[in-house]
Amino acid sequence: MTAAARQGGSGITGEDRHCLLHGKSGFLVVVTPHITLNNGVQMPVLGFGVFQVPAEQTEQVVTDALAAGYRSIDTAASYGNEEAVGRAIADSGIPRDELFVTTKMWIQHTGEDTAKREFDRSLRRLGLDYLDLYLIHQPMGDYYSSWRAMQKLHREGLIRAIGVSNFYPDRLVDLIEHNDVAPAVNQVETHPFFQRRADQEVMREHGGVRIESWGPFAEGRNDLFTNPALVEIGGAHGRSVAQVVLRWLIQRDVIVIPKSVRQERMAENLDVFDFELTDDEMSRIAGLDTGASAFFDHRDPAMVKWLGGRRVD
Ligand SMILES: NC(=O)c1ccc[n+]([C@@H]2O[C@H](COP(=O)([O-])OP(=O)(O)OC[C@H]3O[C@@H](n4cnc5c(N)ncnc54)[C@H](OP(=O)(O)O)[C@@H]3O)[C@@H](O)[C@H]2O)c1
Repeated sequence: MTAAARQGGSGITGEDRHCLLHGKSGFLVVVTPHITLNNGVQMPVLGFGVFQVPAEQTEQVVTDALAAGYRSIDTAASYGNEEAVGRAIADSGIPRDELFVTTKMWIQHTGEDTAKREFDRSLRRLGLDYLDLYLIHQPMGDYYSSWRAMQKLHREGLIRAIGVSNFYPDRLVDLIEHNDVAPAVNQVETHPFFQRRADQEVMREHGGVRIESWGPFAEGRNDLFTNPALVEIGGAHGRSVAQVVLRWLIQRDVIVIPKSVRQERMAENLDVFDFELTDDEMSRIAGLDTGASAFFDHRDPAMVKWLGGRRVD
């Protein structure tokens, strides 16, 4: 690992973690920096997301991602592709303890007993006997009861770390204040146009919650991939806009899980540990923040109603 990667931010351990890769092309070693969560669990700072990957394509896509060197996979019950993720994991032959698997509980399954049942179902679909990270997908429904069930599963050793997603600071702090275990992670929309700096600070101050970016490329919205500032910064390093964005997030101690169904982009998105953005470049990207979602506001009543009515099976 380069000095740049070591200095990527206070949260990256700097301890190189060598994962053995049993790829189709043979046996090679990849190095993925890890970040330490508030319960001591180590999580790869860069993983792979499978939102909007159709179930029938997911097994191949995850197989390709594992062959490219990804060791952290982010799925959700609501993505409808946990079984395909599980098949790819099983077929990879990669030792379980070299993988970091995240999934999420959907709103309709919140509640204490239902959460436990839903956890069991996700585990079965994934073909695993424990999860690395289990998230409450949305701050909606009876998620306090879910959190109690998740704390228990965590204590029993069935989930290494528990966390939340799409929690704005008020909901996050309230959850922390009224429970024993603070979330290890809050996975929220985070990209150059919605940077979440103040939210990240609240997370850090309250229980040392780690911010994890969903939509690191804003799914290409706001013409992210042709943004002049990002293109210019990329040019200075001989890097793509995607690499600049991922590197910028990692230097901010943000966990990233970019999605791509294309092998060349999987490799490109993983190749961000041998260059470093300067302070000036970091400031320039900071200037792109609009302070608003590029998608929708999870506090919009119409959206809360729509999401709450969505059924995943
Ligand atoms: N918790 C939540 O509510 C939530 C919400 C959304 C997402 N997530 C998680 O976060 C992950 C990432 O977010 P996301 O999938 O929404 O969006 P994203 O990673 O910001 O963007 C994915 C898009 O960027 C394209 N892309 C990827 N790499 C590229 C590259 N190097 N150059 C050009 N284009 C590239 C992909 O196209 P191709 O696939 O064609 O390459 C795809 O269209 C998800 O997969 C999911 O695991 C969570």
